[in-house]
Parts: sequence; C-alpha cells; structure tokens
Amino acid sequence: MTIQQAQYLISSPDYTKCPKPDRPEYAFIGRSNVGKSSLINMLCDNHKLAKTSSSPGKTQLINHFEIRSASGKHNDISHWYLVDLPGYGFAKVSQTQRKQWEKMIEDYLRKRENLVNVFVLIDSRHSPQKLDLEFLNQLGIWQIPFCLVFTKADKETQKEVSKNVKAFLDAMRKTWQFLPQHFVTSAVKKMGRDKILQFIEACNSEVKAG
Ligand code: GTP
Ligand code: MG
Repeated sequence: MTIQQAQYLISSPDYTKCPKPDRPEYAFIGRSNVGKSSLINMLCDNHKLAKTSSSPGKTQLINHFEIRSASGKHNDISHWYLVDLPGYGFAKVSQTQRKQWEKMIEDYLRKRENLVNVFVLIDSRHSPQKLDLEFLNQLGIWQIPFCLVFTKADKETQKEVSKNVKAFLDAMRKTWQFLPQHFVTSAVKKMGRDKILQFIEACNSEVKAG
C-alpha cells in the first residue's frame, strides 16, 4: 500500500463533533510523549503532519487526518482516517482535566462506529508499566480491538528492546488468554512502517468486503 495523500482535517473536543463516520478509522493512543504524533508522521512520510513535542501533553483533542492510499495490482484507491489522540498519564494535569480526558477518550473509543482498530503505543525502553497494562484491560472490558506498537526502538540496543517487549507480553499473559499483534517501531529509522501499513491495508479490505 502506498500513501498518496495525507492531510489534517479537524480537531474535535468529543466524538459527536468528529467527521461523518463514513470510512475506516485507526486511532493511536498511549502515554503522553510515547511518540504517537511522530508515528503518524512516519507512516504518512510527512514530518509536519501531526504536531510533535519534547514536552508531554502536546496533543489535547481528537485529531483527524484524511488519508488516500493505493493498493493491489490495480492500484485500488482507499480513503480512511488516522486519529491522533491525547496521551494518558501526564503527571502535570489536574484531577478535573484527567476526568475530562477519560470521558472524552472512553466516549470516543466506545461510540465511534467506524473505529476499526486502536494502536496502543508502548515505550520500548521501559519495563512493563502498570498504567499501560490497566489501559489494555479497560480496552478488553470494552471489547475494543487493538494492536501494540513498541516505539523509540532506535534509542536502545536491539537486545534491550526485545527484552522489554517480551517482558510486556509476559505481563499481559497473566490476564489475557490471547495476545494481540505487536509491532516494533522507530520514527527516526522508519522501522515498522511497512508492517503497520500492511496491517491497515488488510483491515481496509475486510471492511470493504463487509
Ligand atoms: P503527546 O501528544 O504529548 O501525548 O506526545 P506524543 O505521544 O504524540 O509524542 P511525540 O510524537 O510528540 O514525541 C515525543 C518526543 O519523542 C519527541 O521529542 C519526538 O521527537 C520523540 N520521538 C518520538 N518517536 C521517536 C522515535 O521513534 N525515536 C526517537 N529517537 N525519538 C522519538
Ligand atoms: Mg502527540
């Protein structure tokens, strides 16, 4: 699959204000500063598309990006949405802001009818974090399909990354019978791009086939 066009569409304060749910949608979520916006830019090959920042809490609304891609022998065109969500676990926000975030995200995840898959980003430099595992359990309770994306793989040795990925999956095994698909990525080295795009392509065809 090749991305032919990727452009910012709109930022919405809640799911009711989001664009018409008339095409497949993929959302990116994870702790603040984990690299969601950078990953979206890497996938779309445009480092200016989603705003990134070294200070956490940059992304605060539900941000839609409109994508046009071509795939297969006949270069079939697909239109779909990528969504950049604000990060969780940002220490400097007030209790009220945190509650607002939780409500916005829960409503979006549970009620957005065209949401096909959620990519949950995990920092590959760390051992399993309770906050991430709890968030996944919540997705499980809500029955929302998701994959894992281990980010910033260029910042550690391959050995360290593999160790952390394994530890995370092992931690999940304690509560999950089946493990989700996972990707290891680096926005800097463009690692993991093809696999994620292939995954999205496969999901898009399933949606088309109904
Ligand atoms: P919020 O919107 O604040 O929740 O953050 P975010 O998850 O969107 O993170 P963002 O993409 O803004 O990246 C945070 C910081 O990590 C930035 O300084 C990025 O340059 C850096 N970063 C993101 N991905 C990678 C990566 O794969 N490798 C390296 N080395 N740095 C990365
Ligand atoms: Mg961001």
